Amino acid sequence: MFIERKFPNTRLRRLRRNNNLIDLVSETSLTSNDLIQPIFIKENLNGSEEIETMPNIFRYGIEKALKEIEDIKNSGINSIAVFPVIDTANKDSKGSQAANSNNFVSTAIKAIKKEFPDIILIADVALDPYTDHGHDGVIINNEVDNDETIKILIEQSLILADSGADIIAPSDMMDGRIGLIRNALEQNSYKNTILLSYAAKFNSKFYGPFRDAVGSASSLGKSSKYSYQMSSKNKEEALHEVAMDINEGADIIMVKPAMPYLDIIHLIKDSFKIPTFAYQVSGEYSMLKLSINKGWLESEVMLESLISIKRAGADAIFSYAAKEISMEMQNK
Ligand code: PBG
Repeated sequence: MFIERKFPNTRLRRLRRNNNLIDLVSETSLTSNDLIQPIFIKENLNGSEEIETMPNIFRYGIEKALKEIEDIKNSGINSIAVFPVIDTANKDSKGSQAANSNNFVSTAIKAIKKEFPDIILIADVALDPYTDHGHDGVIINNEVDNDETIKILIEQSLILADSGADIIAPSDMMDGRIGLIRNALEQNSYKNTILLSYAAKFNSKFYGPFRDAVGSASSLGKSSKYSYQMSSKNKEEALHEVAMDINEGADIIMVKPAMPYLDIIHLIKDSFKIPTFAYQVSGEYSMLKLSINKGWLESEVMLESLISIKRAGADAIFSYAAKEISMEMQNK
């Protein structure tokens, strides 16, 4: 495919002489449609509170969350991912609240969809907001038990679908859960609920600030999620994870984190050619944002980071900077 190109017949700089030319031949574009804003909503909170390890990001009480979602919509973003922060009093070893149809997240989703029926609402499926040990599943004989966890995830999924979530996103990394959740959705008349599987989710220290944000960091302590999340050393295994989840009924698959895993995003998009999302996670966001706030890096690094994720092959990106970047793009 490559033809030999030689100077001076070819001067690649001809196409870089000004920004209009550069834009005209650019291979990648990023628009507000490609961005998803994660939002933390906290049970029993009035107003909002800052998250220390995530500059400019807040936990919102439900009323304040509705105002924030209005802002997100006005920035041009149409998709949000809600992450609940649950009262310690409502956590237990089995994450029982996840399977309570009147739990906080289901009330919040109903309130959001009532006010913003068109917004695409993505809800996480995993037990970590609800467990007092901070793991994504139930612990039996000192292990996060795959099959017992899935039983609860199915109930959680049906509740989220029933509350009005457009997309449910299992981020728990249990084996076989996509097929069983898909089956339960089909059997309970939620045939249009979209499954976004966190298929290639790596065991990453870049999740640190998120765990502070939802309060699972202190519960987890020194405990790690290595027995269910993938090792950062593996690439072929990511292909198997994705292949299984597609076969089991996933509509969209996710790679997470994003920036340290651009090779995985590229490989998966190239191999499977299905909608592929990437999550620029809390640690990726915080390291950039802190440096920007300190004046160590220029603010354009945020957009550059998102473009790199898009260029790698992501169709859409979860990013804490989504609203801000979308506003900047609108004002241009
Ligand atoms: C947990 C979950 C995590 C994130 C999204 N869902 C953290 C984890 O697996 O411990 C991380 C998001 C981020 O770091 O921004 N099910």
